[in-house]
Amino acid sequence: MPLDKPYLDVPGTTIFDADQSRKGYWLNQFCMSLMKAENRERFKADERTYLDDWPMTEEQKQAVLARDLNWMMSTGGNIYFLAKLGATDGKSFQQMAGSMTGMTEQQYRDMMLHGGRRPEGNRIVGEGGDAQGPVAHSEAWTRWEASHQQDLAADVMTAHAKARSRADAPGAAAGHARVTASVFTSHVPAIGAAIDHGKTAEPYWQPLFAGYEYSKRWLAEQKPDVILLVYNDHATSFDLRIIPTFAIGTGAEFQPADEGYGPRPVPPVKGHPKLASHIAQSVIQEDFDLTLVNDLAVDHGLTVPLSLMCGQPEAWPCPVIPFAVNVVQYPVPSGRRCFQLGQAIRRAIESFDQPLKVQVWGTGGMSHQLQGPRAGLINADWDNRFLDRLIAEPAKLADVPHIEYVREAGSEGIELVMWLIARGAMADVAGGAAPTVAHRFFHVPASNTAVGHLILENKT
Ligand code: DHB
Ligand code: FE
Repeated sequence: MPLDKPYLDVPGTTIFDADQSRKGYWLNQFCMSLMKAENRERFKADERTYLDDWPMTEEQKQAVLARDLNWMMSTGGNIYFLAKLGATDGKSFQQMAGSMTGMTEQQYRDMMLHGGRRPEGNRIVGEGGDAQGPVAHSEAWTRWEASHQQDLAADVMTAHAKARSRADAPGAAAGHARVTASVFTSHVPAIGAAIDHGKTAEPYWQPLFAGYEYSKRWLAEQKPDVILLVYNDHATSFDLRIIPTFAIGTGAEFQPADEGYGPRPVPPVKGHPKLASHIAQSVIQEDFDLTLVNDLAVDHGLTVPLSLMCGQPEAWPCPVIPFAVNVVQYPVPSGRRCFQLGQAIRRAIESFDQPLKVQVWGTGGMSHQLQGPRAGLINADWDNRFLDRLIAEPAKLADVPHIEYVREAGSEGIELVMWLIARGAMADVAGGAAPTVAHRFFHVPASNTAVGHLILENKT
């Protein structure tokens, strides 16, 4: 099922959704740079040179040079960002809005003084209203379109050919994504350091890494197309200015973060913007308010689980969608909310119309406390009972309140609520068969933490 976009037939209107945002990312970021006086000066002194510092498309640059707002919007611009460019030129919002309507400034101002444009005839494309007519279109845009006619035609033809070949493909009717498995694992920065510094065979580390030997083979055999990796950001990309409860990475690439020792020497993470945007739209429409993040440096919470499961490859084996959960500053989301969100994520994945094998990983935990006189708390019995219950009765486990995690598993043991997102995405929760336990492992200690690890497979 493609994304539901009921807003496409509103005349003279571009809704700024995740697809537009992706298209317009650098154009909008360029506009943001004009919030600084020194940048406005540099831009005004030599627009072309300033624009060439930005990885925008040539069409976006031409649209900016022509100051054609409709053209900029067609390449992904959003009015609140474009307004920074307008302000740089000394334009008001009324002048900017009016410039897109094909009216003169005076005509537009008069229309507003007379009560504004009427909705009658302007609700749906094809009605007789005055917003249906030709839009303001600069000569530069017209010239650009004429000289790129062939590219446009080629694009349309490829889109048609692609649609045809998808429709003709065997099993096309069943061509939707599936959650094939979930993986659960602790993350600890010291594990990443042990890998990066070649210490995995040392006596302290060897028993830990032995617990992931099977997992590495399993992952190589499974060949997922995408991993949705649920993790927490540790005051890395999100500081106390902004604390999103749930954030999904919709960008195309995510760099390993510098957490103070320099970035880990691991490959950048390739995202899956299309699936991530689809998940965002789907679960937000189910009332889970995600934060969308295009620009995100990923810390040990994400890279250490990848290293444990993949070793040290040149590139990670598939695209990874980062999904960050706030477990740093209270209030943190409840186990129940996480479990419900996992179910919504599964429905979102399964409504994506490409036959992708998707794994959902839940990371962090198990018992650990990194602070205060109680630092070093480990509760192996509680952790193992958590693993038992995660397998057999996740819905009941989701009812465990925060305070039990803190009392029993240490203040940082709260990271375990994230595992309930991955568990909620498994088929049995939606009435399917119980998953197969492909692997289970538990080890104390890694630094301050009890390491737990589980692989659950959905039956095909
Ligand atoms: C440790 C564990 C964590 O989950 C973390 O984020 C940082 C440190 C540790 O055990 O040292
Ligand atoms: Fe952590």
